[in-house]
Amino acid sequence: MAGVDYGERIPNNVNLAGDRRLQRALEEWQPKFLDWWMDMGPLGFQQQDVYLRTAVSVDAQGWAQFDWVKMPDYRWGLFLAEAEPGRTIGFGDHLGAPAWQDVPGEYRGVLRRLIVTQGDTEPASVEQQRHLGRTCPSLYDLRNLFQINVEEGRHLWAMVYLLDAYFGRDGREESEALLQRRSGDRDKPRILGAFNEKTPDWLSYLMFTYFTDRDGKYQLASLAESGFDPLSRTCRFMLTEEAHHLFVGETGIGRVVQRTCELMRDGKTDDVRKLGAIDLATLQRYINFHYSVSLDLFGSEVSTNAANFYTMGLKGRFEEAKKHDDHRLKDATYTVNELAGDRTTTREMPALPSLNERLRDDYIADCQRGVDRWNQVVKRHGIDVELRLPHRGFRRAIGLFSEVKVSPDGRVISEAEWDAGKHGWLPTEADQAYIESLMQPVTERSRFANWIAPPARGVNGQPVDFEYVRLP
Ligand SMILES: [Fe+2]
Ligand SMILES: [Fe+2]
Repeated sequence: MAGVDYGERIPNNVNLAGDRRLQRALEEWQPKFLDWWMDMGPLGFQQQDVYLRTAVSVDAQGWAQFDWVKMPDYRWGLFLAEAEPGRTIGFGDHLGAPAWQDVPGEYRGVLRRLIVTQGDTEPASVEQQRHLGRTCPSLYDLRNLFQINVEEGRHLWAMVYLLDAYFGRDGREESEALLQRRSGDRDKPRILGAFNEKTPDWLSYLMFTYFTDRDGKYQLASLAESGFDPLSRTCRFMLTEEAHHLFVGETGIGRVVQRTCELMRDGKTDDVRKLGAIDLATLQRYINFHYSVSLDLFGSEVSTNAANFYTMGLKGRFEEAKKHDDHRLKDATYTVNELAGDRTTTREMPALPSLNERLRDDYIADCQRGVDRWNQVVKRHGIDVELRLPHRGFRRAIGLFSEVKVSPDGRVISEAEWDAGKHGWLPTEADQAYIESLMQPVTERSRFANWIAPPARGVNGQPVDFEYVRLP
């Protein structure tokens, strides 16, 4: 059983006490992390007791313990999934060789970049969400927000551990820089575009946790295949936390859909705004926006970087071990989207440089599953509307489709047609103002904002009207 030592200043299952140099580096970083948390973490609520789960061991069954915690006292720690004895590299040029327990010298720079890019997203999302507490739709939702925030903070710890433990002085410099960049900052922005967007309201936040956290799942899952074993084990444990973030997004949007449909049915109207809820057309526009921003995170359709990460054995495919092929892909092909004049089409391409597109395909299929579930809610209320994921080429800023304008149904269109259509496809200023007007805090136990249905059940077997956050 891989228990976590909470007697340590930094809880861990990586035997930190046995590595004085690393311990010193991390103990130096810890107060800077806390400064960042107080400056850029959740605004307010830092002295309130929140019903949070903390990892106490890393095995699948018993890793979480729930208790009231003040966020600055959260036990951020270093947790790796248990080692697989005799693990070998599962793909690429080093297929079958023992997994690396140390950084392979020739891949040092590439590996560091991968870790920094992943690490940068973690504090970024905390920064993006820092204003949300004061407009929470319920104590239940407020607690879930803070749970996600502390865990994203821990994900930062996870990446900083790798940098400090395996990359020496460069690693320590990168650890500092991770606390210095700021989401949306003009001079020192976060590395990836979606993490510089604003998360101004709870609808955007739920969309973010559904679509953008899901990109995180796919990135982490392919890094969990890595031949660099410490990265693999770190990411495997992070995925268990990430699952909760995705749950919050999926059930959160599901609850919005539910509330909207109840009001549509009972009020016999499509215009639920006059009833203080979020109409399905607005929801569709938010889906279009957050989905397209998140698709960009997978990078270009054809990418030599992606091919290199794979052949080097650093980043695998989603569920690499479950795939029945040669795990080298030198002669394999993959179907990639392409532009043919004013049409989108597909073409067989070499599989290695197409790995971004393949991961995006896995992601798209996963996104669709949740949309199907939301549509079942719509249907159950006898409403004849279907929420849809827009075409993958819609409003893209990276890759092939960034050169053209694509409608949600996948037609390459003129600038004029785009300008005429975009207000129907993307959140407008009026939409944003309306959503903002709904963002009135609801903090009484058992009450929920009018625009969102209560959840089916509470957290950790507690009732829905539990006091998830103790307010003064
Ligand atoms: Fe994360
Ligand atoms: Fe997350």
